[in-house]
Amino acid sequence: MKTHSLLTVVLIPCVVQGVLIEDWLITTLLQDYNNLAYPGTTDNETVVVKHDMTLIRIVEFDGTKLTIDAWLGTEWRDPRFLWESSPTNIRLPISQIWTPDIVLYDNPDTRTRFEPNAVIDKSGIVYFSQPIRLEVDNCRQSNDVFKCTLKFGSWTFDGFKIDLQNRSHVIDLSNFQQHNSYDIIDTSVVRNVLYYACCAESYPDITYSVYLKQRKTGWFYRL
Ligand SMILES: *[C@@H]1O[C@H](CO)[C@@H](O)[C@H](O)[C@H]1NC(C)=O
Ligand SMILES: *[C@@H]1O[C@H](CO)[C@@H](O)[C@H](O)[C@H]1NC(C)=O
Repeated sequence: MKTHSLLTVVLIPCVVQGVLIEDWLITTLLQDYNNLAYPGTTDNETVVVKHDMTLIRIVEFDGTKLTIDAWLGTEWRDPRFLWESSPTNIRLPISQIWTPDIVLYDNPDTRTRFEPNAVIDKSGIVYFSQPIRLEVDNCRQSNDVFKCTLKFGSWTFDGFKIDLQNRSHVIDLSNFQQHNSYDIIDTSVVRNVLYYACCAESYPDITYSVYLKQRKTGWFYRL
């Protein structure tokens, strides 16, 4: 197996100072790496992919259509990245490595602004966070609360190939920049698994919900 020979080779240049180790390591790891090839090692192996969302700002909301800027986090394990010795992690542009095709189902044609690096640790865990503008037009009002949902899943892999899971039970709001007329009063994260009559495969998705409420304005509403 490739990882076996890699382990023995990688140990040797440890004595080399500083940046040369990383230079050598990346060259070695990418030598026979095919970034089109899925990282499952056996015929029927499932790759667990974990997903999270950090909400940055509401760009536009008109009661039905919601446009937001968000960071989407994706984590999985690629056994082709496995080494001993330092460095404990490396960074590679996501175009250089295999990435799962997780998209917003309602509107996969979303705008990405730049290509982030993935952080890859020596046990093969890959994580990247993608800044992205997302738009959905499924918001529904109930009393004075609006609920909008964003459903993510793999575009081509079924649940046998990619077991999509949520990394968190909430949308991360720690970087959220307040909107001038709507507050986010709650969020939720649900993992759904769909089955179709035709097939044995499951189709997992992660659905994020955002609950919005118009802020009361004017001095007379305040304390
Ligand atoms: C693949 O694995 C799943 C469970 O992980 C199993 O239900 C299914 O029957 C397997 N398919 C084949 C072709 O072995
Ligand atoms: C995934 O979401 C479910 C439902 O919200 C939650 O119970 C579970 O704790 C979440 N998983 C993680 C790792 O946070």
